[in-house]
Amino acid sequence: MDYLPSIAFVDDDDDLRNANRQTLELAGFTVVPFADASSALRHLTPDFGGVVVTDIRMPHIDGLELFRRLRTMDPDLPVILITGHGDIDMAVEAMQEGAYDFIAKPYPADRLVQSIMRAVEKRRLVMENRQLRLALESSDETLPLIGQTPAMQNLRKTLRHVANADVDVLIAGETGTGKDVVASLLHEWSRRRQGNFVALNCGALPETVIESELFGHEAGAFTGAQKKRVGRIEYASGGTLFLDEIESMPLSTQVKLLRVLETREITPLGTNEHRPVDLRVVAAAKVDLGSPEQRDNFREDLYYRLNVVTISIPPLRERKDDVPLLFVHFLQRASARFKTEPPEMTAAVRSRILEHDWPGNVRELAHFAERVALGLSEIDGGTVSQSSNKMSLPDAMEQHEAKLIRDALKTNRGDVRLTIETLGIPRKTFYDKLQRHGIDRADYAKTRTSD
Ligand SMILES: Nc1ncnc2c1ncn2[C@@H]1O[C@H](COP(=O)(O)OP(=O)(O)O)[C@@H](O)[C@H]1O
Ligand SMILES: [Mg+2]
Repeated sequence: MDYLPSIAFVDDDDDLRNANRQTLELAGFTVVPFADASSALRHLTPDFGGVVVTDIRMPHIDGLELFRRLRTMDPDLPVILITGHGDIDMAVEAMQEGAYDFIAKPYPADRLVQSIMRAVEKRRLVMENRQLRLALESSDETLPLIGQTPAMQNLRKTLRHVANADVDVLIAGETGTGKDVVASLLHEWSRRRQGNFVALNCGALPETVIESELFGHEAGAFTGAQKKRVGRIEYASGGTLFLDEIESMPLSTQVKLLRVLETREITPLGTNEHRPVDLRVVAAAKVDLGSPEQRDNFREDLYYRLNVVTISIPPLRERKDDVPLLFVHFLQRASARFKTEPPEMTAAVRSRILEHDWPGNVRELAHFAERVALGLSEIDGGTVSQSSNKMSLPDAMEQHEAKLIRDALKTNRGDVRLTIETLGIPRKTFYDKLQRHGIDRADYAKTRTSD
């Protein structure tokens, strides 16, 4: 998902174009120079991952017209306008129409570089959001196990193989990595999909209940067993038996389960019958059953019996490249459920999800996405630093001013006229302050692209 941040630089003045090109290349950008707007328009397409900088005064198509045409092509493409004397009004108008920034001549090189750096970041995020949405649209065949990292591709491949081989399977993975999903896929992708998928959580039931649940019982087999009950194993015959949290299975039950796995028959409690079962067992554990610490709680013979095929699901922190994709998927799912517009992934949320270690794995990420979809995450907005006691008065005032402007933009959904009215400052001052605080008005124009 990487691309070189390239800058399309449009200026009919050869000297200025070359000088700026040098400056920008020194700052690490790739520059594509154009001597007129038409050649820029021929070259630029909506998948251009960079930023456009254009002079306003040019023969034939001027910079303003170039900006308007580019906006029709891609409203999210940042266009920075370079203005001479007397063009300021025009530039302000262009800002209202969604131009990214304007820079008045003469300007220090740093002013241009700073603006471009912010625009590049913004463009990168837009492109990433688009790519993720695109990847999800074409991810039908990977559902419900989303992920493009090699680890996930291998996992899906292994699953397809193993699903059709009629072997018992052990699924190993931390909590929230997708063990339930994998277990049901092993069933859905197998010839047993016509049979039942029967799940039993071994951690959730007391010992006595587990045995009658698993093996079934005759009426009167024990106190309280009024009616005959078909056990889960028998019910899963012809289908798949999913034993979740098998590490919590009582030792005595483990012995009986091992017998079933070896003989492929069950004996319901209170009977002497041996009933054959056509069984496939899928077991899941969130600990490594093979490790020496488990020997007191888990029978080694059962472990070896189950361990013929083990599918290990890596924790999310080991496949971090999948985090944004999964996040956008859960964001869309949550928004559909809550009947809201899926929000864009912002820079703040993006860095948060990439930095976090996700001990609760995919489940934790899904919950976080729900909070973001509901606007409940603490990350966006309200992030005024708490350290204002250490701040100098001018700094504190700066920060307060930035917050007032952000709040006003938010209230007025990015509408410049209304925001200026709210703040009671001249238009020019407003734009100066936006630049100084690095505030991007477009971030607050929520409905801009869907209008
Ligand atoms: N690769 C994935 N793609 C999409 N959703 C996933 C993926 N892995 C897990 N999930 C979702 O995350 C949640 C937790 O998964 P689950 O299978 O219950 O984890 P475990 O059983 O390992 O604790 C579920 O809502 C599941 O649908
Ligand atoms: Mg589970």
